Amino acid sequence: MNVIRLSYPVQTLDNRPLLPAGAVLSTETLKELIFSNKARSFQAYPLLEYSEVKHDLLHLISKPPYDIIFSGRDKIAEVMSMLGKVHLVSPILQFLDYFKRSDYHTYCHVLMVFALSALINRDLLVDYREWLTAASIGPTHDIGKTCIPLHILKKDTPLTRAERSIIDHHAAAGYVLLSYFQKDPKDLSAIVARDHHERKDGSGMPRCIKLTDRMVEIIVVCDVYDALISPRPYRAAPYDNRVAIEEITKMAEMNKIGWEVVRSLVAHNRKAKPKPSEVKISGEKRGIAPSLNCHGVVEETDSDS
Ligand SMILES: [Fe+2]
Ligand SMILES: [Fe+2]
Repeated sequence: MNVIRLSYPVQTLDNRPLLPAGAVLSTETLKELIFSNKARSFQAYPLLEYSEVKHDLLHLISKPPYDIIFSGRDKIAEVMSMLGKVHLVSPILQFLDYFKRSDYHTYCHVLMVFALSALINRDLLVDYREWLTAASIGPTHDIGKTCIPLHILKKDTPLTRAERSIIDHHAAAGYVLLSYFQKDPKDLSAIVARDHHERKDGSGMPRCIKLTDRMVEIIVVCDVYDALISPRPYRAAPYDNRVAIEEITKMAEMNKIGWEVVRSLVAHNRKAKPKPSEVKISGEKRGIAPSLNCHGVVEETDSDS
C-alpha cells in the first residue's frame, strides 16, 4: 500500500485533534488513534430519520435530472426503503448539520451521492448484504471536508496551488475521521472516503492507485456526475445533463472508470428505462461545458512558490 503522509492536521467537528500534519497513516498510527477512542461509545441512528434528511432528499430527487432518474413510485419506494436501513453514529451524522448550515452545496451533494449510488448498486451488486453495505458508504465520502476551511471550500475564483492541496486533503482526512469513529481502519466507509478520487488508470489521488473495487467505483461515478450537474460557486451554471453524461463517457473512454457503471447511469437517465446491459452509449461529443468555470484552474501566486 502507498502510505499517505498527512499534509495538514485532522480534527473532529468539536475540535478534538486526531492527527497532526506530517503523520503517516500506517496501520499502527490508526490503531493507536482508534485505541484512544476505545472508551467512547456512540449511538447509531437511522440516517433518513435524522433531522430533515428524508424531506431534503425527496425534494432533491424531484428536481431535474433526478426526477427522470428516480421516476416511478415503486423505484422511489424501493430506494427509500433501502436507504432507510442505513444507520450512522451520532458524530458522523452531525457533519450533515454542519454542511447544511455552512456549505449547502456539499450537503445536497452527499445526499444525492447516497441516493444515486443506492440505485446503481441495485443494478450492479447482486447480493443484498453487499447492497446494504454499499448504501451506507455514499453519505460519508466527503466527511473530510469538515477539515477544510470554508472560505477555500466555497471559493468562487481559481484556487491557488496551496488551496488546491488543502482541498485534496479531504480524502485522507475523511479516512482518519471514519477510521476513528467506526473504530476500524478497514471499515468500508473509511476506505471509500480515502479512495473516492482514485481512478482505474491510476491517475487519481491521494495514492494514485489503480482502482479495482466496484463499490468505490460506483461512488466515483456518482460523485463526478452530481458535481457536474449541480450548482457550484466556482462556475456560472451547472453542466447540462447531456454534457455531464458525455464527460462521464469520456472518463470511461480514458479508462478512468468502468463502462458497466456508466451504462447503469445512462439507463436510469433514459425514460424507457432499458436494462443497463442493453444500453448502447454514443461516442458523440456535442455538448458544450458551461463558460466561466474555474474548476481545475489553479492560479499561480508568489505565495505558492
Ligand atoms: Fe471528494
Ligand atoms: Fe464528493
